[in-house]
Amino acid sequence: MNLEIQPLTNPQPGIEDENKLVFGKQFTDRMFVMEYDSGKGWHSARIQPYAPFTIDPAAMVLHYSQEIFEGLKAFRHADDSIAMFRPADNVARFNQSARRMCMPEVDEQFFLESILELIRLESRWVPRNEGTSLYIRPTMIATEAMLGVRPADQYLCYVILCPVGAYYKGGIAPVKIWISDHYVRAAEGGTGEAKTGGNYAASLYAAREAALKGYDQVLWLDAKEKRYVEEVGSMNMLFLYDGKIVTSPLQGTVLDGITRRSALSLLVEMGYKIEERALSVDEVMAGADNGRLQEAFGTGTAVVISPVGSFCYQDTCVQLGNGQPGELTMQLYNKLTGIQYGQQPDNHGWITKL
Ligand SMILES: Cc1ncc(COP(=O)(O)O)c(C=O)c1O
Repeated sequence: MNLEIQPLTNPQPGIEDENKLVFGKQFTDRMFVMEYDSGKGWHSARIQPYAPFTIDPAAMVLHYSQEIFEGLKAFRHADDSIAMFRPADNVARFNQSARRMCMPEVDEQFFLESILELIRLESRWVPRNEGTSLYIRPTMIATEAMLGVRPADQYLCYVILCPVGAYYKGGIAPVKIWISDHYVRAAEGGTGEAKTGGNYAASLYAAREAALKGYDQVLWLDAKEKRYVEEVGSMNMLFLYDGKIVTSPLQGTVLDGITRRSALSLLVEMGYKIEERALSVDEVMAGADNGRLQEAFGTGTAVVISPVGSFCYQDTCVQLGNGQPGELTMQLYNKLTGIQYGQQPDNHGWITKL
């Protein structure tokens, strides 16, 4: 397939103030778009000016939520070059989500090259301040106009970009986590491991309740027994428990996070034993109390590593350590961001330079 590059007509002035960037609010001048028709496959791939779409009110995505997306970042290095972190992993996960949602797969190499070309054209939007990056949002939606529950025959796949500010502006801050004993995010056999919009819509109610009670995030338990910790908002959870790293196994209910994968590789190299096993909420609460649970942190593209300061479950809140980010949490944060920003060697082949 050819990638058509359309001329840009009305470029914006660019980033006004890197210190004032708000996540997901300002988008760059161009976007990647391609279309799919069954029988014809993907076609009309192009990089075009960023613009609203016209879609039919009966478009199936609007009624039955056949939608998937990804989230990854590009980073500015000190020599002014631009690097992406494990982009092929995101493209592969995009196709895994597509399969689960009965949507057409994309040609991974073509899609990745198109994303790289889009970022090359939009390179002036990759910010330079410490901790900033360009967030990349690949998306696929069902556009066929038809009321009826079945996989659509027409799709739109697009990629938009937004410059994002440093997540931790006043230093890395621990979060207060609410463990939900009522709401669930994903059940075995459901769509938890797919990155599809419906999972996030389903999480809003509990997240709003948590926010109203003064918590930062919801930690989801398994749907069957409501006993084992799974993941948080848009992060996987890792625990330093009895000196070992414990994290929920990937059994279909948890997203296979790329930051999780990277963190686990680095932790193995640092000499830690990894236990991918069911960790119960009782172990978490008691462990924080008796010191067996030393540190806990979330991993995800947006935050990289997010230390947990306290867990609250039913009527009890427990603080982890002294409520400050743990030593290992900080070590891992520095290692991962060091690789992403080119300050530490990339020994794993995780960096793709533009
Ligand atoms: C539900 C969920 N879990 C975990 C993650 C972390 O995944 P990653 O490290 O690939 O960003 C995300 C973010 O994409 C997410 O949405």
